Amino acid sequence: MAEQTRKRVLSGVQPSGNLTIGNYLGALQQWVAEQDNYDCFFCVVDLHALTVPQDPATLRAKTREVAALYLAAGIDPSRASVFVQSHVPAHTELAWILTCLTPLGWLYRMTQFKDKAAKQKQESVGAGLLSYPVLMAADILLYQAAAVPVGDDQRQHLEITRDLAQRFNHLYGETFVLPEALIPKEGARIMGLDNPLVKMSKSEASEYHAVYLLDPPDKIRKKIMRAQTDSGREIRFSTDPQRAGVNNLLTIYQALTGASREAIEAQFDGKGYGDLKKAVVEVVVDTLTPLQERYQALIREGGYLDEILAQGAARASEVANATLATVRERIGLLPALTPVSSKS
Ligand code: TRP
Repeated sequence: MAEQTRKRVLSGVQPSGNLTIGNYLGALQQWVAEQDNYDCFFCVVDLHALTVPQDPATLRAKTREVAALYLAAGIDPSRASVFVQSHVPAHTELAWILTCLTPLGWLYRMTQFKDKAAKQKQESVGAGLLSYPVLMAADILLYQAAAVPVGDDQRQHLEITRDLAQRFNHLYGETFVLPEALIPKEGARIMGLDNPLVKMSKSEASEYHAVYLLDPPDKIRKKIMRAQTDSGREIRFSTDPQRAGVNNLLTIYQALTGASREAIEAQFDGKGYGDLKKAVVEVVVDTLTPLQERYQALIREGGYLDEILAQGAARASEVANATLATVRERIGLLPALTPVSSKS
């Protein structure tokens, strides 16, 4: 069967904040492209979202929203498994086992931990924020994923995942596939519209930072027309930090049109930044309108989405539980038996 020979891919997004065009161009678009090359597993990592405080009703709604956005962006549930992380308890179980193999030093070194912890009061930093990368390693290793399509900011998490896999394999024998990060080319790194020197983030408070996938057209227009540029006039791709704003708009335009840099620079030769912005608004709206229509239909008839998630979790559990059974056996946990008779 083709299923067994195809290498596996696993990736996920947290159901917090609002998915942005940065998530679309840096992650979702790439996932869609990998669907036929790999046996893909895409999860909504709700347990990771719990590492910072969440409102229960919002978390539940966001979890379905993100899953629906995966499908609306073109993930085909007949080819890829789409599921919610917490629906497959093997993730938390393997995370605990790996936690016991993880030196604290590895976790304190993580830049994401340092950044997120710095934003909170020292004594209120949750232990989950520190062990976050171990849960992520469990997500990946359970599926024996060979490739993990993620943004550049996740590189360090992939390294710790490989380190943990290697440590386990060394101690208990070959068990886990060592995953590679599949990082999109430089072009797909989308920066903040209000500050083109930082990566576009889905949990930034500022209203003009990011275009969200569910923004209506007039909002999209406002945000892009306000994007930070510079006092120059030339519309060229550039690595000069002074010109990062224009470069970012060009990058978005290129990623959405698929045109070459040369063709785009020729197209805007002699034009102004206003023209570039208008053109970017147009391609973004043209891309997001059909995506939003598919999203609305999925949320309206929620039963279909829930069935996809149930099927995804069933398929994911099969794979994850098989890996976990091997792990349990290798580390010496006593097998749990089903009682032959019941006392009551
Ligand atoms: N840490 C990832 C992020 O913030 C989310 C994530 C959790 C993930 N588990 C994963 C990504 C497994 C890829 C694979 O973007």
